[in-house]
Amino acid sequence: MSADKYKGESPAKKMVRLNSWLKTSKELGKKFYTEKHLVLASREGGDISVLLGLGVDPSNIIAVDLVKFAVDSAKEKFPGVVVYHNNITEVAKKYANQFASINLDWCGHASKELLSTTLDVLRFGAQPNAICYLAFLSGREKPKLYAKIQEEKTWFDNVIDGCPHKKQALNKKDRQKFTNVNSRLILVAFALKDLGLNKGVWVDPDAFFYYCSKTSKKNGLPFAVLHGKVRFNRLWSPKIIDTYFVESSETDVRKRAIQMHAEMKASESPRLRKHAAHFAAKLLNIPKSRVVSWASHYSRGTYGDLGLRAGGGIG
Ligand SMILES: C[S@@+](CC[C@H](N)C(=O)[O-])C[C@H]1O[C@@H](n2cnc3c(N)ncnc32)[C@H](O)[C@@H]1O
Repeated sequence: MSADKYKGESPAKKMVRLNSWLKTSKELGKKFYTEKHLVLASREGGDISVLLGLGVDPSNIIAVDLVKFAVDSAKEKFPGVVVYHNNITEVAKKYANQFASINLDWCGHASKELLSTTLDVLRFGAQPNAICYLAFLSGREKPKLYAKIQEEKTWFDNVIDGCPHKKQALNKKDRQKFTNVNSRLILVAFALKDLGLNKGVWVDPDAFFYYCSKTSKKNGLPFAVLHGKVRFNRLWSPKIIDTYFVESSETDVRKRAIQMHAEMKASESPRLRKHAAHFAAKLLNIPKSRVVSWASHYSRGTYGDLGLRAGGGIG
């Protein structure tokens, strides 16, 4: 049995994940609610929580983990969600291209092996034009991981050198933009594309997020996220991709929760108004009691002016 190596989620992870799922729901439109989504469970089930918070039916959420304890915790926390104790590649095969979105929030670095597994999951599981979210441990700033990163970089450099689309895809402006945020992300995209040519699937990236938490190490290492569309044909059109650098702390999570809660309370939907704390909590994978407490402190003026803007919340 695999050991549970997941360290839990950081404030920045919560924020990036929520934004990315909001983006996915907009991109998929009605399909977001009628089709299935594949996620890695973990004992926290953060992605499951956000999907439920956005109104996805539990039966359309398929979660997987190699760790039995994580599977049991996720099942207990989210009744009705299908949680498999298995390798995610096997589950992708079982569902044979039924997923409208696939979220692979790995705990590992973007090694050749992990990229290959990523492509297999997409190839076996994704519908054409499914939306995917791929998160890799970045860690380039951590000295003890330096050797590992150098190893990866050499491998990526070789991939890039052999890439015929390199010149068209990376014009000067794009290159600057990517290097400013995290140059390794574009390398990941190229590596996925090159490896994918052999497997008949790759990712057309449309946004890169690089995130880290402002708080201490216990809150997590930096991550690099690629948000894109799964392609099964050989068309690949270079374009400018949105890049985001996200740095968040617990205070940002609290602000976001209070803001979403206030927006839901003012919404036209009676269900959202009635269960505002429940939904805001799900969207950030935090206990409902915390949202209730934050909202009541906020209304009593405990936090002062949080600078909340109307319309800046659940999008
Ligand atoms: C970063 S966590 C996922 C967090 C989760 N997305 C959330 O929102 O809470 C990654 C999880 O993937 C699991 N995992 C890693 N490789 C896997 C594989 N090949 N198949 C299934 N689960 C895997 C790990 O055990 C770990 O619990």
